[in-house]
Amino acid sequence: MFPRGREVILGVGGGISAYKSADLIRRLQDHGFLVTVIPTRSAQNFIGNATWAALSGRPVHDDLWSEVHSVPHIELAKKADAIVIAPTTADLLARLAAGRADDLLTNVVIASTAPIILVPAMHTEMWLNPATQANVELLRSRGVVVVAPDEGRMTGSDTGVGRYPDSAKIIDALNLTLDSKADLMGIKVLVTAGGTQEPIDPVRFIGNHSSGKQGYAVAYAAAMRGAIVTLIAANSVEPSIEGVETIHVKTADEMHAEVMKAFPSTNIVIMSAAVADAKVLQVSGEKLEKASYSEISLEPTVDILKALGQMKANKILVGFAAQTGSDGLAKAQDKYSAKNVDLLYVNDVSGGAIFGKEMTTGSIIDDGVVIESVSDISKVTLAHKLLDLAFHKLSLPND
Ligand code: CTP
Repeated sequence: MFPRGREVILGVGGGISAYKSADLIRRLQDHGFLVTVIPTRSAQNFIGNATWAALSGRPVHDDLWSEVHSVPHIELAKKADAIVIAPTTADLLARLAAGRADDLLTNVVIASTAPIILVPAMHTEMWLNPATQANVELLRSRGVVVVAPDEGRMTGSDTGVGRYPDSAKIIDALNLTLDSKADLMGIKVLVTAGGTQEPIDPVRFIGNHSSGKQGYAVAYAAAMRGAIVTLIAANSVEPSIEGVETIHVKTADEMHAEVMKAFPSTNIVIMSAAVADAKVLQVSGEKLEKASYSEISLEPTVDILKALGQMKANKILVGFAAQTGSDGLAKAQDKYSAKNVDLLYVNDVSGGAIFGKEMTTGSIIDDGVVIESVSDISKVTLAHKLLDLAFHKLSLPND
């Protein structure tokens, strides 16, 4: 689990997306970070110090020449566990790449040994300019993390690469930088993602709203920590993950077959897929006409997780439960024991929450009881929590 109370210096550059770092402060605080803001002079053209002070709950430092007796840049540099600069303008990238120290923020950066995460945001032309790209490359070669900007609508009517990304993406980059560890090196992790689709006829299917984001987040987090990851993905359009063996399936039966193949050599299984509970008894080879489309006979699919639970030996099984309604937790606790899992994450998916979103809210069940409830954390952060717990269980001696 991520330790709380770590110090982050949030540098804010002078771009229109400076207002978005107001949200970033809040999200950083939600993740237990203590935030000190250092805006550049041009950032103050967009947002005043009062906003930063109120949101961070701390004085705002913006000047190298005030409080000189306390050598503010050295003091700030020393206490930082990480420096995040969001947004980073083209000018800031150039100054940082050149090692300039011409304002408080660049002085703090150059005086600090903490990891640096830059979040460039600017017009597409400025981002693609060879000078900017060369600066990014140089900074990356020195170990600075540069979060790739998003693509989409710019301040004006134009669109392209250069948008300030979601706070969740920045926090993931920060967490990964701070916690980059290879504790899962050599561990085999099998992850399922997405939602299965059970055909009715060549045109129609029974499916669900699962996007695969949670499973992909688990696969990504495990791979980052050195695990050997097999991802079995059902109907997800998430981008593939480098270094992760990904097998695409459509139906519950196909997922079952692939899971069984990978299972014997696996240490940890994380079943985040939403597997259809039933399939069509007789799939029509021809498209059904309206007239014959009043009733479909179903039969149950294999409960993959339950089957694994019956043969798991010393493997660690992590299940998911998507619930609605007030008795969701009790039902999830029943699933925990019925499926013989080691951990279960339950989330309330009523009203379109969770599916397709970057963030998740829910509870982790261990030994039949809730050990942690999480609220609006990124799916990658949840993935790390589950991997931490599963790995801990794997490391315990068998009794
Ligand atoms: N699961 C599975 N095979 C199935 C159905 C579900 O492996 N045929 C797994 C899911 O991947 C998830 C867990 O079981 O990890 C819980 O799934 P869920 O659909 O919430 O539970 P069900 O047992 O199907 O119960 P119900 O649909 O009645 O809520």
